Amino acid sequence: MPVSDFELLGAWRQVLKLCGLQRGQSVALLTSSSTNEQTLRCAILAVQERGAIANRLDLQPSNGSISLSRDPLAFVGTTPLTENRAAVEMLKASDLVLDLMTLLFSAEQHEILKAGGRILLAVEPPDILVRMTPTLQDREKVLAASAVLRAARTMTVSSEAGTDATFALGDYPILEEYGFVDKPGRWDHWPSGFLATWANEGTAEGRIVLAPGDILLPQKSYVTAAITCHLEKGYVKAIEGGFEADHLRDYMESFNDPEVFAVSHIGWGLQQRAHWSVMGFYDREASIGMDPRACAGNFLWSTGPNNEAGGKRETACHIDIPMRNCTVMLDGKAVVQNGKLLGDKA
Ligand SMILES: [Fe+2]
Repeated sequence: MPVSDFELLGAWRQVLKLCGLQRGQSVALLTSSSTNEQTLRCAILAVQERGAIANRLDLQPSNGSISLSRDPLAFVGTTPLTENRAAVEMLKASDLVLDLMTLLFSAEQHEILKAGGRILLAVEPPDILVRMTPTLQDREKVLAASAVLRAARTMTVSSEAGTDATFALGDYPILEEYGFVDKPGRWDHWPSGFLATWANEGTAEGRIVLAPGDILLPQKSYVTAAITCHLEKGYVKAIEGGFEADHLRDYMESFNDPEVFAVSHIGWGLQQRAHWSVMGFYDREASIGMDPRACAGNFLWSTGPNNEAGGKRETACHIDIPMRNCTVMLDGKAVVQNGKLLGDKA
């Protein structure tokens, strides 16, 4: 359902306040053909209201002729910033980048962050942005769970559907997504509210069984029959099931790159304002699916690149798979039990 400019402006006000945007600072609003006009309009107003400078950088779309999907996360790695030095330098010179386009997994994004830049991705529809406007409590919750994850050396995931997988931890950083960027070099995504890390190279082992209701992204489909993914030495070695398993395998194989089958980030959702049911109400191209990625108590795992975590794996295919009804354990202690987030008062 649409939201008013008044509501969306209020959300941007809160986000920019949480980002600590100061008078006189410069904000680059990165846009492309898919940018939502209302989001852009309200962002510019909120930036100017804080006495900061709003510069719009509009870039041409890329990857459309090679991707099999219109989802911005369906083909990652190269973006309109690739080999676009003038644009990169403008973003590096800005105090804050509002990415209303989707830069994820690009080398240029890392370069901007390394130079101390801050990037906030915001591409979900305005109504979803307003519903999940970030708060300080979101950050507290994510950081508290992150401390537990940081101390752990093993993650295990199980479910009644047959999932039984283990991952060794400790070699890769933790991605703390709480919806705003409050320090130099930080990237985040509004809306969010989840934790992710990457298994140590070659350690993902076992079996993940997707049950009816689990979700595939960027397909944005609810699984209707079991799909079994066999994990071995950090890779998905086999995908078994019916039509949906065939569809997933066919799509992944279309990239013609064995690294597509590597296990990528693993983690769980902490956001109580994100809902599993939401995806069923939106057209596939209207949203990138942050509700299922962030919803409290999910187990979110993925396949593909790990370069955003400092790894060497660059591959264009990235599948995010939020699952329900899993038990996630860290060093033998549950943080999610049968799909319920433990220790959460909200
Ligand atoms: Fe992902």
